[in-house]
Amino acid sequence: MPTADSHGYRPGLVDLKAGQISREIFVNEAIYQEELERVFARAWLFVGHESQIPNPSDFAVSGMGEESVILCRDRAGEVHVFLNSCRHRGMKVCRYDEGNTAVFTCPYHGWSYGTDGRLVGVPFLREAYRSTLDRSQWGLVEVAQLARYKDLLAQNLVAGDCTYCSVHAGAWVLWSGFRCETRFLVGVDSSK
Ligand code: FES
Repeated sequence: MPTADSHGYRPGLVDLKAGQISREIFVNEAIYQEELERVFARAWLFVGHESQIPNPSDFAVSGMGEESVILCRDRAGEVHVFLNSCRHRGMKVCRYDEGNTAVFTCPYHGWSYGTDGRLVGVPFLREAYRSTLDRSQWGLVEVAQLARYKDLLAQNLVAGDCTYCSVHAGAWVLWSGFRCETRFLVGVDSSK
């Protein structure tokens, strides 16, 4: 794979003058892997809308690149986004697209998590772990950052307040706002 030029584009893949891109961009495995690492693992990504989980204990499964994530509202009404991965052996703990549940129970060995992500149940805790497992340390992993704008939810796996994140979050808010306003205006026009 040729290295990128000074604009960050690989020769032959993007023709800026003609406004054309190569179809290679959509099928090249190396480019896809790079996108997963440089875009999907670091950027703000739209994950869902609060209307998908209006009630306590509602959940909806969404995605972030190839990662499955659970968008849910806990019993106290707080919104969370968790990696859909059991802390025991990494099995998907939620196998449904959406619903309402008191707990997410892993189908592999039965660890159970509350809608706030806490590990609340471990079968054979005393026998298998001699009661030494500190359940407070083994809850579902929550995404590092969650942004809300007009009930739209975006997540970012990168923690902290780096310039790149801030700029990208700002861009996302502007884009989301534009989309919301556009949809609103279209709705007003179409009702005439
Ligand atoms: S992988 Fe989930 S309980 Fe073992």
